[in-house]
Amino acid sequence: MKVLYVSSEAYPFAASGGLADVAGSLPAALRKRRVSASVIMPLYGCVTDEMRSTMTFITNISVPVSWRMQYCGLFEAKANGVTYYLIDNEYYFKRDSLYGHFDDGERFAFFSRAVLEVLPYLAFKPDIIHCNDWQSALIPVYYSVYYATRPGYENIKTVFTIHNIQYQGIYGKEILGDVFGLGEEHASLVEFGDCVNLMKGAIECANKVTTVSNTYAEEILDPWFSHGLHPILQERHYKLSGILNGIDVISYDPETDKNVFENYSAKNPAGKAVNKEKLQEYFNLPVRADVPVMAIISRLVSHKGFDLVKRIMWELLGSTDMQLIVLGSGDWEYENFFWELKNAFPDKVGLKVGFIPALARKIYAGADLFLMPSKSEPCGLSQMVALRYGTIPIVRETGGLKDTITDSGDGVGNGFTFKSYDAYDMLDAIRRSLDAYWNRDYFNTLVERALKCDNSWSKSAKEYIDLYKSID
Ligand code: GLC
Repeated sequence: MKVLYVSSEAYPFAASGGLADVAGSLPAALRKRRVSASVIMPLYGCVTDEMRSTMTFITNISVPVSWRMQYCGLFEAKANGVTYYLIDNEYYFKRDSLYGHFDDGERFAFFSRAVLEVLPYLAFKPDIIHCNDWQSALIPVYYSVYYATRPGYENIKTVFTIHNIQYQGIYGKEILGDVFGLGEEHASLVEFGDCVNLMKGAIECANKVTTVSNTYAEEILDPWFSHGLHPILQERHYKLSGILNGIDVISYDPETDKNVFENYSAKNPAGKAVNKEKLQEYFNLPVRADVPVMAIISRLVSHKGFDLVKRIMWELLGSTDMQLIVLGSGDWEYENFFWELKNAFPDKVGLKVGFIPALARKIYAGADLFLMPSKSEPCGLSQMVALRYGTIPIVRETGGLKDTITDSGDGVGNGFTFKSYDAYDMLDAIRRSLDAYWNRDYFNTLVERALKCDNSWSKSAKEYIDLYKSID
């Protein structure tokens, strides 16, 4: 079976969030199970010269974006044993950020059209085109409207995965023809709520729709989570399912990770204490083995649960012998809150504003506890990475957090959880985790259990293959 995995970002070429991790690791896991999977993505300006030197030029063609004919270069590169195809057009992709431009609709209409137009130039004909998020949501629509009966394009199936329903690709109806190149006769496929909604189009047209955890697949049928799309998803429920993400356990391995201060493993966990000591030094905090270090590594935005953190953190730090280390960037409101907290508790709070993957790994390795109280979380990768480094997650029971972390109150769980989106329920879970920390033998058992958790792709890759095979 041959799969073309379409993503607007992928490691190691360009990344801004969790989708890049998935696109950078799932295809390799599919290949291990003898599915030939390749990735196709835009060639952004941020792709480094070093990466560019590994690419070879295949061809260039013209791609229609409604009435425009646009240049499209096609490059190929190998990473992690997987072939990556990169779509080149500097006008659309040589920008200072991946998304957030006035013409994103046009940029990704071009990308979607280009993916379909370059198929004859790839080394294989895909059985499945697997699209992700709104940026490639037009592909199932264009396939069914323009390509399904074109010679050489027959019998291709499309799968669409929702990584976050908050971002749907919503545009005014006036650009349906002029930018998206769809006539009035096809308007009903993509129109929703008096707008063009690209994600809605993919849900209508793809053979299967998936999302990145079972719980999120249920949650998005509910208006509280669906950002308006629940009527469509309820109607198309029969093609919706959840498959949990995995993490790249070769890259995230405390035994071999070159970014951590000292390597360690479940068999030989002593190095974790060295990481804690060096981390405390790095953040200018008192170096003490007997104080719990709780970490936050996140985009600092509301849906990650920072309103809860704001509500209780002064009270918690004021009354507790503990340290808090924060790495992240985002809304001014939360960045400012953490600066104030650091000023008020200089001996208890370490803060670095930014997105710094190498430092993140040092924190995963050196912390004892990992706080992730998201309001909603389609899957979440950080809680799985934390486990992999033996750091105990405290999470809200939502989406993938619910599916990967179980409360250790039952004697077998791997973390601490709370249900309602309520600051004092979160505080209760944090206090229980701190009590556990001070019970050394018990906490060591928890760390050992975390280090042994298997969140590799192997189970989920099989579920994707079963899903691909189920489409007739
Ligand atoms: C999005 C989601 C996150 C998920 C990631 C990869 O970033 O918000 O929960 O883990 O996609 O699927």
